[in-house]
Amino acid sequence: MKTLMRALAGETLPVPPIWMMRQAGRYLPEYRATRAEAGDFLSLCYNSDLATEVTLQPIRRFGFDAAILFADILLVPQALGADLWFVTGEGPRLSTITDQAGVDALKGPDDIHDTLAPVYQTVRNLAGALPSETALIGFAGAPWTVATYMVAGRGTPDQGPAHALKDGNRPVFDALMARIEAATVEYLDMQVQAGAETVKLFDSWAGSLKGDDFQTYAVEPAARIVAELKRRHPGLPVIAFPREAGEAYVGFHAATGADCVAVDDSVSAEWVAENVQPHGCVQGNLKSSHMVTGGQALIDEVRHIRDALSNGPHVFNLGHGITPDADPDNVALMIETLRERVPA
Ligand code: CP3
Repeated sequence: MKTLMRALAGETLPVPPIWMMRQAGRYLPEYRATRAEAGDFLSLCYNSDLATEVTLQPIRRFGFDAAILFADILLVPQALGADLWFVTGEGPRLSTITDQAGVDALKGPDDIHDTLAPVYQTVRNLAGALPSETALIGFAGAPWTVATYMVAGRGTPDQGPAHALKDGNRPVFDALMARIEAATVEYLDMQVQAGAETVKLFDSWAGSLKGDDFQTYAVEPAARIVAELKRRHPGLPVIAFPREAGEAYVGFHAATGADCVAVDDSVSAEWVAENVQPHGCVQGNLKSSHMVTGGQALIDEVRHIRDALSNGPHVFNLGHGITPDADPDNVALMIETLRERVPA
């Protein structure tokens, strides 16, 4: 069995499988060339041949144990009917949803597939093109994180607009969350049908949900999505990433049914080993900045994380996505070190 699938199934491996969030991205010259060929980022996402190509680039260059579908969490809002565009150097922009009329105008969960068909084609291409040892990961944004962009129309430092709608008009906010959740199930189901072997739910802004809100808007939607996907696809492993959940990482496996919980770099590997890994596979959590700075500090930290998490199931990864200023040589050094080809 592929090493990623073994770790997700709960096996402790002598060398953990490794892949990297945003492994297809601007730090790679070959990605920049293919994106230029596509024209822009969204055209790349919807061009199955070129999206397949950029997904494969980091596999060819580095030999990661898993490939992650090249797409974006904001394709779901677009498929639901939101306008979406990317401002170079700034990030995503969307039309905003602030009232019930805006929610009512969204498409239904079964009407998203026309827009998203090229993504499913990318998954099919990849299922046929990847090396036999490389696992294929599908993904979607978790409802809260997707909602933060749909309400604000852009990324925000504190997710203020989404919190304001949640606290000021809960029925509208809950209706929006329900729409996103239903679409997310159908989207991930189609990815699995197309050949994704596991799926990851990115809740990048889960950390701003406090107290009961974390339970209601991070844990419960994830639990319902996981349960429905596993009902449709028995045995499908799911990775959940409630970024910056802190203490709430504890128990997240059991509360959501996720097989693997990805952790960010604000928690130590020792703490994760003690408090999270006993409940299931964990993924993480090297600081992305090591991919910029490299050197002995990178080597030491890769060994430290690998060793601290060596007594349970672990998927090696960064704590968040690799940044455009990263040096590809440092990615290679991370992998060599993990697989112990660097002299002590
Ligand atoms: O990881 C991979 O290699 C797979 C592809 C992938 C992308 N985005 C491609 C991308 C995945 C899994 C995502 C997830 C995603 N997208 C998240 C969750 C993970 C996280 O980073 O917290 C979020 C919040 C988004 C939304 C998004 N997409 C933002 C805020 C931005 C702009 C910021 C930035 O990094 O430029 C994007 C753009 C984006 N998504 C790029 C890539 C490769 C860069 C776009 C470009 O090439 O110009």
